[in-house]
Amino acid sequence: MRVHDVKEILIDKHAIAERVDQLVDAVADGCGADHLIVVGILKGSFMFLADLMRSFHRHDVHPRIDFLTLSSYGSGTTSSGEVEIIHDIREDIIGANVLLVDDILDTGRTLASTKKLLIERGAESVCTCVLLDKKAHRAVEFEADHVGFPIDDHFVVGYGLDYDNFYRELPHIAKVTFHD
Ligand code: IMP
Ligand code: MG
Repeated sequence: MRVHDVKEILIDKHAIAERVDQLVDAVADGCGADHLIVVGILKGSFMFLADLMRSFHRHDVHPRIDFLTLSSYGSGTTSSGEVEIIHDIREDIIGANVLLVDDILDTGRTLASTKKLLIERGAESVCTCVLLDKKAHRAVEFEADHVGFPIDDHFVVGYGLDYDNFYRELPHIAKVTFHD
């Protein structure tokens, strides 16, 4: 890892909590509450997804949950361009309304290819929700249905997001500042 620090907070935990509730209001309205399966992309989405699930409680919506482990980054801060399934979902998604959740939308490859795969497998609908949207490096045309916060071109960590699998435990989103 390059010499760096994660002192600068970009989005604090209160702002995240408030936005998560708003996102769930929008998702419960727009993504089909019946036969809903929430699919989280690991590892980055685990904290966001846990908070989304808790917030569904207010709407009396009872989604099932599953996880997909993907890898598009080696170690470092640039996407390798290849999206590999390391661990697949177990739920039968034929006819289901799927809410696909990721931590951040960057090049768009992860969500574009995963959404396509779930539709090919017979999902009735696939709605996408990301905490962060970083438009600067989009490589494929893709927009998420629900976005927590658009961000500028920074590498960020915390609330599930990592740098080399570190900092996922931070309760906020912090900017990684590199020192040369
Ligand atoms: P995409 O396929 O390029 O859209 O990549 C999405 C994945 O890249 C996310 O699930 C993250 O794991 C990772 N990623 C993209 N930007 C960042 C960042 O700023 N911090 C940490 N992970 C990131
Ligand atoms: Mg990730």
